[in-house]
Amino acid sequence: MFAEKTIWITGASSGIGAALARAWATTGANLILSGRRQEMLEQVAAACAPAPCLILPFEATDFDALPSIVQQAIAWKGHVDILVNNAGISQRSLAVDTELPTYQRLMEVDFFGPVALTQALLPHFVQRRGGRIVQIASVAGKVGVPLRSGYCAAKHALIGYSDALRAELAPTGIQVHVVIPGFVRTEIAKNALRSGSGATGEDPVDSGMDPQRAAQAILRGIQRGSPEIPVGEGREMGALWLRRLWPGLLFRQVALRSPS
Ligand SMILES: NC(=O)c1ccc[n+]([C@@H]2O[C@H](COP(=O)([O-])OP(=O)(O)OC[C@H]3O[C@@H](n4cnc5c(N)ncnc54)[C@H](OP(=O)(O)O)[C@@H]3O)[C@@H](O)[C@H]2O)c1
Repeated sequence: MFAEKTIWITGASSGIGAALARAWATTGANLILSGRRQEMLEQVAAACAPAPCLILPFEATDFDALPSIVQQAIAWKGHVDILVNNAGISQRSLAVDTELPTYQRLMEVDFFGPVALTQALLPHFVQRRGGRIVQIASVAGKVGVPLRSGYCAAKHALIGYSDALRAELAPTGIQVHVVIPGFVRTEIAKNALRSGSGATGEDPVDSGMDPQRAAQAILRGIQRGSPEIPVGEGREMGALWLRRLWPGLLFRQVALRSPS
């Protein structure tokens, strides 16, 4: 189902995005790879060979640049079929130590970034009466956890936006997938915004799921047409059920875990 499709992945320079690119490279898809680090994007494109790749670097919060970026993406093959909003940053700081600019940055990158790109590409999908929007959210978008108050807020907001968008687009043939990863072994913790005493030592991400396995699970979910795609192998995935069925127990469990 992906052969000849043009798939645009943000945050393709590392982690889950790079793994998604490599997974899609074997399906006959054309890949647009975005992120800020051109060199890393070139390495990912080389690993995807011989799949056709367009490297399209941009800063996710440079909203003024988006019309031109979107135009370049569409012009490459004449169409974009799947947008994967994967670029993101996390946080490792207690709320009491966190200044407003950190919250603003998290909302800009993790919420307004994917919303702005979705909105900019949406007219193209509407005109073509098709397309898929894949939002890489997080278990932290369903469950509030320590050291990630701004990250959780941004991912909760992204899920709210995406669920509403899915409902609006239902008659159009455009599909919206929300991916809910648990811990995946990437650079996300290393790149997280920090302040005060938060964020030291071993991070659960370091022992998380292999990114390549996560990418395969995401592709299967998209293939099945699943609106929501949980991806993970650890205990954190149980939190999704507890949040729904026994929230009081979940709140006690996350509170018991001392921030590390
Ligand atoms: N790893 C996990 O355990 C986990 C769990 C749940 C959800 N997620 C989500 O998965 C997504 C990918 O994260 P990852 O784990 O693969 O982490 P990662 O290895 O740190 O990758 C993050 C990607 O986002 C890009 N990015 C970050 N800030 C950007 C900006 N301002 N403008 C443009 N691109 C930017 C980075 O590219 P450049 O540095 O080249 O710009 C990089 O390619 C994120 O949305 C994250 O929230 C991860």
